[in-house]
Amino acid sequence: MIDKIKELIAEADAFKAQSKEEVEAFRIKYLGSKGHLRAFYGELKNVANDQKREFGQIINELKTTAEAKVNTLKEALESEEEDKGIYGDLSRPSEPIALGARHPISIVKNEIIDIFSRIGFNVSEGPEIEDDWHNFTALNLPEYHPARDMQDTFFIQTDPDILLRTHTSSVQVRYMENNQPPIRTISPGRVYRNEAISARAHCFFHQVEGLYIDKDVSFADLKQTLQYFTTEMFGKSKIRLRPSYFPFTEPSAEVDVYWGLETETDYKITKGTGWLEIMGCGMVDPNVLENCGIDSKVYSGFAFGMGIDRIAMLLNQISDIRLLSENDVRFLEQFKSSL
Ligand code: DAH
Repeated sequence: MIDKIKELIAEADAFKAQSKEEVEAFRIKYLGSKGHLRAFYGELKNVANDQKREFGQIINELKTTAEAKVNTLKEALESEEEDKGIYGDLSRPSEPIALGARHPISIVKNEIIDIFSRIGFNVSEGPEIEDDWHNFTALNLPEYHPARDMQDTFFIQTDPDILLRTHTSSVQVRYMENNQPPIRTISPGRVYRNEAISARAHCFFHQVEGLYIDKDVSFADLKQTLQYFTTEMFGKSKIRLRPSYFPFTEPSAEVDVYWGLETETDYKITKGTGWLEIMGCGMVDPNVLENCGIDSKVYSGFAFGMGIDRIAMLLNQISDIRLLSENDVRFLEQFKSSL
């Protein structure tokens, strides 16, 4: 019997509890009216006289061990509860947080901003709902000018014309109207065109406009800036400028970057030429400078404009532009690592 009690003492000593309920069950088991201790006290009268003393002592030991255990466990659980306070258990592992991902358009836009900000360009923005002056007229595209046909416009109101801007070149105008040279600014934003939606075209997409105005700015400065950009953005430094036409620049050019013909994808995206058209550019037409209140006899400059969606598609091998605006999380989640 003494061995059995010793066992119980060891057991009581080692007991651990997570909750008050467990402590209470323990107390009842050892110290309750039908518990071990009661049973052993009951046995006491059957124990031989010469063993009564030892037996009594060992039961007392069981009693003090069990009581001490109940007290310390209760205290510990109560202070834990106090710690929880109104915030709950502060040591509890947190709920898993679902990490979002940046949209591929934002990733490319931020990269472009980053590259140009390293050479002193700031970021400017303008409204998506524009008037005729900022989207067309100030940019050397007077009413009835055939170049307006290049862009199918969503009109919100006519006479006076209010429209969804068809390009971010409108921000050039606003920036020049409000700032004197030296100007170095890029203007990212959403633009709208009344086009049938397909895998290749959408009725809204994104552009970045660039504008650099100062004294003695030349075409060589433009080319150098673009080459810096393609090297930083794509790791490709070979570019060519093909003569082109934009009403707001003279001369104007289309910029191609040499992508190479190393992989099958290179063949596909460059149609077997190795060259990829990435933007339009040119020297800002003196008329545009004058329209915006800048003296064209003192200042000159260059501008360029590129599509962000196309670049995002190119870099991520996205074959359908519609994926960029559908916001399917299965698509978006693939850009988590590009944060
Ligand atoms: N605004 C033109 C477009 O939407 C792009 C562009 C071409 C912008 C030449 C420019 C530029 O600033 O110089 O297609």
